[in-house]
Parts: sequence; structure tokens; C-alpha cells
Amino acid sequence: MEMKYGEAESRQFVTNLGLVTSSGKWGHDIMTAEWTHHISYSPAMVAVNVHDYDATADNIIESGEFGVSLASESQTELVDIAGHSSGKKTDKVAALEELGFRFYKAARIGAYMVEGAVLNLECRLVKYEKVGDHVMFIGEVLEARADESEGPAVFRSGTGIYKVGDKIGHDKGPEREKKVGDALSRHAKP
Ligand SMILES: Cc1cc2nc3c(=O)[nH]c(=O)nc-3n(C[C@H](O)[C@H](O)[C@H](O)COP(=O)(O)O)c2cc1C
Repeated sequence: MEMKYGEAESRQFVTNLGLVTSSGKWGHDIMTAEWTHHISYSPAMVAVNVHDYDATADNIIESGEFGVSLASESQTELVDIAGHSSGKKTDKVAALEELGFRFYKAARIGAYMVEGAVLNLECRLVKYEKVGDHVMFIGEVLEARADESEGPAVFRSGTGIYKVGDKIGHDKGPEREKKVGDALSRHAKP
């Protein structure tokens, strides 16, 4: 079956907004990827899912590396611009710089990284594979820089960009905790 963009099923997913930076046959490039995931602690690894026709895919395959900058709450315009034009036709990095966004040269890879992102990861491509209608690029993190001065922008697919909301939780009172402990012990497997 299909779960299309914007439909009720797809709208239940919530993600970060990755700004995937790369350098290769299409020059320096940046694209927005909601499908950006932390997939391993040690070694630190991330996965980004990118359409095979995007300039970013060509750049990553050619260079064997990519950057991931997680957008902050104040970077929604950057997300919009990087996600709505292709590096095959536009030098988005130059356009964004002209618009006042700032980049810095990565320490371990050839790409630029986004100033003011909540997290900047410089990655070496470990493997990539076509998974459904996107290519999953898995990268090992060589260099990481977190900035906690702002919160991460949160994307709810097909509806928009949000701030992290109120923390929620369940009843952790002693009575409830005892009930939970008792139920788990009653159903313990031999
Ligand atoms: C909010 C948002 C999220 C996006 N997420 C993804 C994604 O996860 N994967 C993807 O392939 N494209 C995604 N896109 C679309 C790409 O960013 C877009 O196709 C971009 O133009 C590709 O740029 P490039 O050709 O320079 O690589 C997203 C766009 C927006 C606006």
C-alpha cells in the first residue's frame, strides 16, 4: 500500500528537520530532509533519506561524505528555501548567504555547515541503499557540535513546523507504581 505525503497516516510522524549539506558535482549544496534520524550511539551514526534525483544524492555518492545540521526554531525560512529548489539549478548556499544566513567550513569534510543549527554533524558515508522511493544514506559522525541556546524545530509531516511542546507524563504515584510492578511480576516469563 501507499502512505502519501499529507495524508492522515503520514501526518502522525514527527521528526527533526535536517539540513543536509554536501559538496560534489553540483558544487556546495544544502537540502531539507525531514527523514533525518540518529541510528547508533557508538559509533555515532545517522541516516538521511533522500530522493535519488536530488543534487544532494549525487554529491554524497561522489564525495563519500555529508553534513547534517538540525534546524533550530528560528531557521524555518532556511528550511523552506533549502527544501524548495534544487542545487542542480540554483546555488542555494550563495543565495542563502545573500539573504543573511551564515555557514562555516566543516573541520572534517568538504561541505559547509549551518551556523546557528542546534546540532552540526560531519559524516563519512558508510553505506547507502535504495529503500522504497528514497535512498537511505548512512553516515558515521566524525565531528559533532551541539548548540543548546535554542530548541530544535519539530516537523509534523504535512502540517507544519512547531516548537517542542509541554513535557507530558503518566501517573508515577506510589499506588500506580505498585500496581504496575505487580502486573509485570504476575506476567513475568519463566
Ligand atoms: C519540510 C521539508 C522536508 C523535506 N524532507 C525531505 C526528505 O526527508 N527527503 C527528501 O528527499 N526530500 C525532502 N524534502 C524535499 C527536498 O528538500 C527538495 O527536493 C530539495 O529541492 C532537494 O534539493 P537538492 O536537489 O539541492 O538536493 C523536504 C522538503 C521540505 C520543505
